Amino acid sequence: MAKKYVMALDAGTTSNRAIIFDENSKIIGVAQKEFTQHFPKPGWVEHDAEEIWSTMCEVMKGALEQSGLEASDIAAIGITNQRETAVVWDKNTGRPVYHAIVWQSRQTSGIVDDLKAKGLLEEFKQKTGLTLDAYFSGTKITWILDNVEGTRARAEAGDLIFGTIDTWLIWKLTGGKAHVTDYSNASRTLMYNIKELKWDDALIGYLNVPKTMLPEVRPSSSVYGYSIPAILGSSIPVAGAAGDQQAALFGQNCFQPGEAKNTYGTGCFMLMNTGTDIYDSKNGLVTTIAWGLDGKVEYALEGSIFVAGSAIQWLRDGARMVDSAPDSEWVAKKVRDTGGVYLVPAFVGLGAPYWDSDARGMIIGITRGTTKAHIVRATLESLAYQTKDVLGAMEADSGIKLAALKVDGGAVANNLMMQFQADILGVPVDRPQIIETTALGAAYLAGLAVGVWNSKEELKTAWKLDVRFEPVMPEQEAAKLYKGWKKAVKHAMHWLE
Ligand code: G3P
Repeated sequence: MAKKYVMALDAGTTSNRAIIFDENSKIIGVAQKEFTQHFPKPGWVEHDAEEIWSTMCEVMKGALEQSGLEASDIAAIGITNQRETAVVWDKNTGRPVYHAIVWQSRQTSGIVDDLKAKGLLEEFKQKTGLTLDAYFSGTKITWILDNVEGTRARAEAGDLIFGTIDTWLIWKLTGGKAHVTDYSNASRTLMYNIKELKWDDALIGYLNVPKTMLPEVRPSSSVYGYSIPAILGSSIPVAGAAGDQQAALFGQNCFQPGEAKNTYGTGCFMLMNTGTDIYDSKNGLVTTIAWGLDGKVEYALEGSIFVAGSAIQWLRDGARMVDSAPDSEWVAKKVRDTGGVYLVPAFVGLGAPYWDSDARGMIIGITRGTTKAHIVRATLESLAYQTKDVLGAMEADSGIKLAALKVDGGAVANNLMMQFQADILGVPVDRPQIIETTALGAAYLAGLAVGVWNSKEELKTAWKLDVRFEPVMPEQEAAKLYKGWKKAVKHAMHWLE
């Protein structure tokens, strides 16, 4: 009998998860584990790639155990990952030469400034669809080769290779046999020409990265190799990969141009499918590859917000205002509004639509009556305001007015926040029954490659609405609140200049 289970590996920014889906998109096993965040200097964020791998091994085994299945029951593994995070490792020893530099990290903003000063912004934008920012992978490789002793010579000798987390995991899973990435992840590196679908020699030259370091770019649904039996006990096809935001777009079944979703994870990312058209954003968004599938590449417009769930994590771990992330809902509910307080979570600068590396976080509007509950509420509301910023840009760029916004990710379980989101947008917010759409998208891509599913149409039957949050706040009130947000953002911008 054909195998009907797919294991999705969701390599997020703060935790790794393995989720096993059956052919009806039902979760039958799941395991999750957080890993260490390293903050060596203000604004820097790093991970230990070895720890990412070891925790992933643990959760793969945990999910299998929970499902009661054997590895030999799994038809395919699909990978989805925090994007842009860069790992450089020695292909002979398998050892990373430095920590993985995380997408949120600002340590390469000096390199970015130099590229901008050379007048290269437009060329990068035209070829990659991206803006020049420390967020994307390219300058992270440059930084490692420039700052970690001996690495440039080893890279030039062909011993060092680069990968985003998908590439690192596929390489580890296949015992070093496959050094590959998919189109969606390649499109986040600042080195991949999204029109000509190739690594761009000129861009690689500006970044001073030896081409031998770069992985082969493959479709998002394709057998890249087979996991070595030493890991799970039998060999499984590794058959799909996509950046987590693109995977969520797929898992939300946004297959048609004009369909959009917003994922509330560590950051918050709104993507709109634009089909085979490449939009040139005039409003601070980026253009990205959605996926490569069925012999073609499709694109998306994206609004990338750097801090969303990580602001709630900061409430828990940094400010210690809540004991757990879900607690933020009842703490915020103790007050009926923020009492005029705004929190701008520009902890690592601001992404779309502002792109300001020098912005920093700020709480403003505090009075003698301000309590912890107001600040917690302001933090939750900041996710909604940032989403409003991005939706405005997306509607302006695409000329499409969204009838409803599909949402997913951990924070959408927070009803208070979802209602506020609908109120501020003035647009209904649709939460599906399966909010693990990122992992689901990766499972679909892998399952399509090995015949668990046969077409996108077949996948559509699994998407079911849980709750539609209708806007209830009077428009004028929403507009007034949003005006306050825009004022607050202005104060947080250019802080380091
Ligand atoms: O581009 C960064 C993004 O992929 C991170 O996703 O889920 O960790 O917020 P997440």
